[in-house]
Amino acid sequence: MPDLFTPLTIKAVTLRNRIAMSPMTMYRSVDGLVGDYHVMLAGARAAGGFGLVFLEQLAITPDGRTSTSCAGIYDDSQIEGLRRVTSLIKEMGAVPAIQLGHTGRKGSLLKPWEGGAQLPADHPDGWQVRGPSALAYGGDFTQPVQALSQEEIGEIHQAYADAARRAHEAGFEWLEMHFAHGYLGASFFSPIANKRNDEYGGGLENRLRFHREALAAVRATWPEHLPLTVRLGSDDLNAEGVQFEEAIYAIGRMKEWGIDLADLSLGFNTDDMKEMPFAMLAFMAERAVRMRRAVDLPIGISWNLGLPSEADRVIREEIADLVLLGRPALSNPHWPVWAARELGHADPFGLLPQDSSFWLRNFRSHDACIGWPEAAAASG
Ligand SMILES: Cc1cc2nc3c(=O)[nH]c(=O)nc-3n(C[C@H](O)[C@H](O)[C@H](O)COP(=O)(O)O)c2cc1C
Repeated sequence: MPDLFTPLTIKAVTLRNRIAMSPMTMYRSVDGLVGDYHVMLAGARAAGGFGLVFLEQLAITPDGRTSTSCAGIYDDSQIEGLRRVTSLIKEMGAVPAIQLGHTGRKGSLLKPWEGGAQLPADHPDGWQVRGPSALAYGGDFTQPVQALSQEEIGEIHQAYADAARRAHEAGFEWLEMHFAHGYLGASFFSPIANKRNDEYGGGLENRLRFHREALAAVRATWPEHLPLTVRLGSDDLNAEGVQFEEAIYAIGRMKEWGIDLADLSLGFNTDDMKEMPFAMLAFMAERAVRMRRAVDLPIGISWNLGLPSEADRVIREEIADLVLLGRPALSNPHWPVWAARELGHADPFGLLPQDSSFWLRNFRSHDACIGWPEAAAASG
């Protein structure tokens, strides 16, 4: 039976454990470039024992960013900084992962700590937001949306292909397509955001055409031996939006189109959600079980899995194959070591690079002075 610390092999890539740092937008970029901050952020998590390390969603076009402070992979000049990140992640024994995205009608924002307002197209830090239909999200996302023409959709697919080529050149070994959280992929899938009358709208197959073409574009430049995965907005939690049964159909189709793992999240195509599960532990678990049963494909989930016992349960009970941690990874770069101690792992410090683990294994101080609270598992 696998547990949180069992390696996971997908195609030619083996993760040393089932713990990923989930993609998180950090608002630290200038001109879409990553720098020392990103090297530190990702490097510390790789050195802290995570098996898979994502940076934030990387935009495939400038207008695919969340804000002008967000990172991108739309220009060859962005490869070099990304290569610094991937080479440190690999040196620390983890696998570097990239999430390709386009924020669609939810872009053109101020940073969250500057209020997060959506900026108009004529603002120096704003742009004309685009989506499947000329329909603003509403709520805090007030700016008018331009419906993409078919020609523009083709340009976006070309941008996906170019970004995947750059991702490989930058040394990434795992590529996730961001089709969740109300961004462009999520909004093409959702009948709340997609009101098109052409072959990209209407029935389910039409609402998946954008994704089929995006996956084909990426597959053409992303090597076959490396994992290609999808984060899907699998439920809009709204009667008018994506229903989970549709997500089961979509992942089944995407498996035929070449994906190797489905990372399940929510649609966030509207603020009008019938339930707000955000205080619940492991609230994607039940959906993961249903998806795994219906589609024979590895599944990843995030959301409220930061308790080591919950994360471990998700793997042991074969609810999912990979646990993605967002906020717990921000809060504790050594989360895997902490979890290993809590779960009674035989050699928690073995997750660290030798520079640290040698001393911690062989030259122990008083247990209470090692820099960690006494492990719950050890204290009984
Ligand atoms: C600061 C922050 C930024 C995020 N940015 C992204 C992102 O770029 N792409 C994405 O798919 N999810 C993003 N998320 C969602 C996380 O990847 C994760 O799915 C979510 O936080 C739930 O996991 P958690 O309960 O472990 O935090 C972000 C979350 C946070 C807290």
